[in-house]
Amino acid sequence: MRVLLIGSGGREHAIAAALAQDVSVDTLVCAPGNPGMAELGECVPVNMNDPTAVAGLAVTSAADLVIVGPEAPLVAGVADAVRAKGIPVYGPGREAARIEGSKAFAKEIMAAAGVPTAAARSCRDQKEIEAALDEFGAPYVVKDDGLAAGKGVIVTEDRDAALAHALGCERVVIEEYLDGPEVSLFVVSDGETARPMLPAQDFKRVGDGGTGPNTGGMGAYTPLPWAPDDLVSEIMTRVAEPTLAELAGRGTPFIGTLYCGLALTSKGLKVVEFNARFGDPEIQPILALLESSLGELLYAAANGKLAGFGPLWWREGAAVCVVVANEGYPEETITGRPVYGADQEGVLHAGTALDATGQLIATGGRVLNCIGTGASVAQARQEAYMLAEGVKIEGCHFRGDIAAGL
Ligand code: AMP
Ligand code: GLY
Repeated sequence: MRVLLIGSGGREHAIAAALAQDVSVDTLVCAPGNPGMAELGECVPVNMNDPTAVAGLAVTSAADLVIVGPEAPLVAGVADAVRAKGIPVYGPGREAARIEGSKAFAKEIMAAAGVPTAAARSCRDQKEIEAALDEFGAPYVVKDDGLAAGKGVIVTEDRDAALAHALGCERVVIEEYLDGPEVSLFVVSDGETARPMLPAQDFKRVGDGGTGPNTGGMGAYTPLPWAPDDLVSEIMTRVAEPTLAELAGRGTPFIGTLYCGLALTSKGLKVVEFNARFGDPEIQPILALLESSLGELLYAAANGKLAGFGPLWWREGAAVCVVVANEGYPEETITGRPVYGADQEGVLHAGTALDATGQLIATGGRVLNCIGTGASVAQARQEAYMLAEGVKIEGCHFRGDIAAGL
């Protein structure tokens, strides 16, 4: 089949790498893609947040399947526009993507579906904000109600900082703090039937030991050697299935990845957030272990045929991703510096471009993803760090404790 893949980050490079090895895929077009993806398929420029432009490209490239990687195009209605052309698309329509685009909508769905999550208040003014801060107490969790690439949330002991962040948001949600380790589970859905991938964990803060500001994610690993055996089945029955049924019941079936971000708290599992696409960087190590055909899986989901697909197959062992970020990320990212070491086997491009001379330069906050695999998390981690050490970008940084001590 011919696949059109929308996006340009590390997640899309990982998807492209899986599709490039997949016998069910004979042509891969990436739009806009990145220099790493250009080695796996044709890259075509497009404004990926423009539904008409993407739908037009799906038609002219004669795509049998369109895969939308990032959230912004989904929330903009790109999947709806492609579907309206009669082309199967993996990714939810605008309405279903609100599960990620609006935290208040996600809370409403969870309440209706009986899904456990942190208690929360949507606040409109300073009086409501202060009342909610005092109701839940420290640590304070303050979320911008909109897409913020994982950076619109602050968790702080400092009430003044919490209040200042809340006052800077157009609409704000204040939540109960959830203790306990976090888990990401990506559930592939055709609107009715769902299949879980391997559970993963990501590292959201910029600094070692979980210090510093939140980022889009500084690293990840899978599977979770410490997780209870029934973790995935519990998340499916208590979280994913009721949420997907609620969305289907509202006439907006969710076709794509329901990303369940959970905390395993002292009071049981609770949803921290939902997203409407594969998590970045968790999907990078997950796909490194996928044995089933990704192309056939996503094609079946896009066509309402997951029931016939069966469970996914995974390689034994573990995979780890270490993100190499630009100087200043996530605050004031310095871009444009030359990148060396991206050609190592296992390195994915997340924020790179070629300059006019053909030199690879760092353009994003997160520049490269270093993926190691091995028989254990410890072995995979060693390989990922060897790759990260081999990357040279002036001023770059990566966490030293991704998947440590497992
Ligand atoms: P979100 O954008 O909702 O995923 O939040 C980003 C990150 O903030 C999460 O991955 C958590 O690490 C943290 N966070 C969000 N909500 C809570 C909460 N209620 N309690 C504790 N930490 C949270
Ligand atoms: N890894 C976090 C995210 O993709 O939002």
